[in-house]
Amino acid sequence: MKLAVIGTGYVGLVTGTCFADMGNDVWCIDIDKTKIENLKKGVLPIYEPGLEELVKRNYGEGRLRFTTDLREGISEVTFAFIAVGTPSDEDGSADLQHVLDVGRQIGRFVEKYIVIVDKSTVPVGTAEKVRAVVGEELEKRGKGDVPYDIVSNPEFLKEGSAVEDFIRPDRVIIGADNQRAAELMRELYSTFVRKGDRVMLMDIPSAELTKYAANAMLATRISFMNELAQLCEVTGADIESVRRGIGSDSRIGNAFLYAGIGYGGSCFPKDVKALIYTLRGNGFKARILSAVEEVNHLQRNNFIDKVVSRMGENLSGKTFAIWGLAFKPQTDDMREAPSIAIINGLRSRGASFRAYDPIAVENARRILGDENITYYNNNYETLQAADALLLLTEWHHFRKPDFDKIKKLMKSPVVFDGRNQYEPDKMKKLGFNYYSIGRN
Ligand SMILES: NC(=O)c1ccc[n+]([C@@H]2O[C@H](COP(=O)([O-])OP(=O)(O)OC[C@H]3O[C@@H](n4cnc5c(N)ncnc54)[C@H](O)[C@@H]3O)[C@@H](O)[C@H]2O)c1
Repeated sequence: MKLAVIGTGYVGLVTGTCFADMGNDVWCIDIDKTKIENLKKGVLPIYEPGLEELVKRNYGEGRLRFTTDLREGISEVTFAFIAVGTPSDEDGSADLQHVLDVGRQIGRFVEKYIVIVDKSTVPVGTAEKVRAVVGEELEKRGKGDVPYDIVSNPEFLKEGSAVEDFIRPDRVIIGADNQRAAELMRELYSTFVRKGDRVMLMDIPSAELTKYAANAMLATRISFMNELAQLCEVTGADIESVRRGIGSDSRIGNAFLYAGIGYGGSCFPKDVKALIYTLRGNGFKARILSAVEEVNHLQRNNFIDKVVSRMGENLSGKTFAIWGLAFKPQTDDMREAPSIAIINGLRSRGASFRAYDPIAVENARRILGDENITYYNNNYETLQAADALLLLTEWHHFRKPDFDKIKKLMKSPVVFDGRNQYEPDKMKKLGFNYYSIGRN
C-alpha cells in the first residue's frame, strides 16, 4: 500500500519506517529541511533502539523516501498520516496549529480519494476540525467532489522501545465513521496484528479520547505512588514493599507504580494538561487530574528539598555529580525531563554540576546550557571531588556500579537516588549517606 507520513519526529519516523519495513511504499514528509537532508544521508534526528538500521535498509531499498514537498509526497498515496507535534499552548490546551496546517496543505494538493489519519495526540473533536479545513481548501480549488475520510489512529509507542512497540502493538485503535476507511486501515495494519485481532474499531471521538485516557491513567498511577512515598517517609513504611504488595494484585498489575522524581517527557505532562483543559472546557473541574499534576510538580521540589536539607540552603561551592539527564532511559529526549527542574532549582542556589548521560547530553546542553555545568562521557568522571551524587535517570548501567570506586572519587559519600535504584541497607553498610524516595 502507498502512504505518506507528515511530521518525521519520534512518532512519524517510526511509523513510516515500520510500515516501509512491511513492504509498503512510504513517503516521510517534514518541513525541517535539515532533518530531511540528514535522513537521506542516514543521519537520524533522534535516538531510538533499532531504528537507524531499519531507516537505512528501507531507504536503501527504495520503500522509504524523504521529502519536504507535501505535494510530491501525497500525490499517489491512499493514506496521509498526520504525525506532527501538538505541544501545550499557554492555557494548557493542545496547540493544533501544526495539525490543521497539514490538513490545509492536504486539501490544497490532494487529487483523489485519500484517508487522512490523525496519528498525533489530539483532543476529542479534532478530526472534525481537520475534516473542515480539508473541505475548505478543496472547495477553494473547485475540487469539492474529491472524496476523503478522516480517521483517528492514536499512537501508543513508548520512546526507548518505539520500534518494538509499533511492530508488536498491544492494540491498534482505529476511530472511523465509515466501513471503507475502517477496512482500509485494518488492511494496512494487518501485518502487525497477525497474532490475534488487536485492531479495535470504534467511533472517532472515543478513539481520540482513548489516547488521553491512557496517558492520564499512567500519570495518575505515578503520582499516586509518589504521594504514598511521602507518607512512607514519615511513617517508616517502604514504598518499594508497598509497590510489590499491590503490583502482585492481578487487578492492579506492576506497571507504572514506581515512585521517583515524577513523570516527564513529551507526552504525559502536555496530555494531562490538555485533558484538564478539555474537561474544564466542558464544565468539569478535573479534580483528579489537577491533583496528579500538582503531585508531580511537588515531587521535584521534594527532591530539591531533600538535597537542600542535607547540603544547606546556600549551595555555592558545592558540586553535584549528575547521573542521567534524559526523561527516561533509552532515549535522548529531554522534553520536560525532571532533571531540568532539579538542576535549575539547585543551580539557583549556587550549585555546580558534573553531568553524564549516555545519549542525551547534546539535547540537555541546548536546554540547560553550560553555566555551572560540565558534561562528561563517563559516569565515573562526574564523581571527581563531588559533594554528592544525584541519580536522575535509571539507565541500566547505573544499577550495579563499582561502589568502592564511587566512594574513592567523591569528596563525600552522599547519594540522592531519584529512581530508587539501590538498597538502603546495602548503601548504609557500604558507608554511604543514602537518600531515596519513600524509603527509610
Ligand atoms: N513521542 C512520543 O513518545 C509519542 C508517543 C505517542 C504519541 N505522540 C504524539 O505524536 C505527535 C508527534 O510527537 P513527536 O514526539 O513525534 O513530535 P516531534 O516533535 O518529535 O516531531 C514532530 C515533527 O513534525 C514536524 N512538523 C511540524 N509541522 C509540520 C508541517 N506543517 N509539515 C510537516 N512537518 C511538520 C516537525 O518538524 C517535527 O519533525 C504528538 O501529538 C505527540 O503527542 C508522541
